[in-house]
Amino acid sequence: MQQIVPGAVLLFSAPWPMTCYRIETMGKYVIIECKELTKAYPVEATMVHAVNTVNLPVNKGDFLVILGHSGSGKTTLLSLIGGLTSPDSGQVFIDGVENWRQSDQALSTMRNSKIGFIFQFASLIPTLSVMENILLPLSFCQNPAGSRVLALDILAQVGLADKANAFPSQLSGGQQRRVAIARSFINCPDIILADEPTGDLDEETEKDILALFRRYNEQGTTFVVVTHNSDLAATQKGARVFSMRQAVLTPQAG
Ligand SMILES: Nc1ncnc2c1ncn2[C@@H]1O[C@H](COP(=O)(O)OP(=O)(O)O)[C@@H](O)[C@H]1O
Ligand SMILES: [Mg+2]
Repeated sequence: MQQIVPGAVLLFSAPWPMTCYRIETMGKYVIIECKELTKAYPVEATMVHAVNTVNLPVNKGDFLVILGHSGSGKTTLLSLIGGLTSPDSGQVFIDGVENWRQSDQALSTMRNSKIGFIFQFASLIPTLSVMENILLPLSFCQNPAGSRVLALDILAQVGLADKANAFPSQLSGGQQRRVAIARSFINCPDIILADEPTGDLDEETEKDILALFRRYNEQGTTFVVVTHNSDLAATQKGARVFSMRQAVLTPQAG
């Protein structure tokens, strides 16, 4: 049975009504499923696996932390899940729909409406202001959930309320990363895919961002966070922790 429930409406401190709702099915369900997912790249005369036979069901509301050294396949796995890279074999299902079994348009609609990406490198558009960068994902949506008001609220939550009109070149690396984080939340996505999200943040800001993730997670947002920082897993209570080594994903004990 499906019902419409408030999503971010409970999350944001703003007193005005937010138009952000999610359709939820009673009880937990598998929101992401990877089956035998495999991707290899040519290196000299051979193919080297970036992701090798990954099987991974993720329930709605899970917080996954995937730990692994550089080159272990973390970024490739995230882009396969997010439908940015096509697998050589295997499948990814988002909400029961297979990523590469739908039209390009349906795939990009799914990405824009369901997934917030936090890329490893901030990837802001240099000619757009902070506010314009945050609002950018909405320009691809037919029914955007967010707005300028919501953007300001999220910006305040990442500690950059005073930077709405600044340009990326006027921000530090850590501030740019926080803008990219704010941008990933603008459309109240069901899933956040985060690639080394706290890579260039100082300790204090990292704590604030992880607390922000926790708040969204408590509201039902599903997180898949990849990092080489093993402390991150310890700070997220109830996280499902995996390690990625040479393209192979393994659950960590305990
Ligand atoms: N577009 C690509 N072309 C060729 N090789 C790639 C490409 N993307 C990733 N790789 C290779 O796949 C492996 C995994 O990379 P990546 O997923 O970026 O790992 P991580 O994010 O853990 O550092 C590495 O050996 C990398 O060189
Ligand atoms: Mg990477």
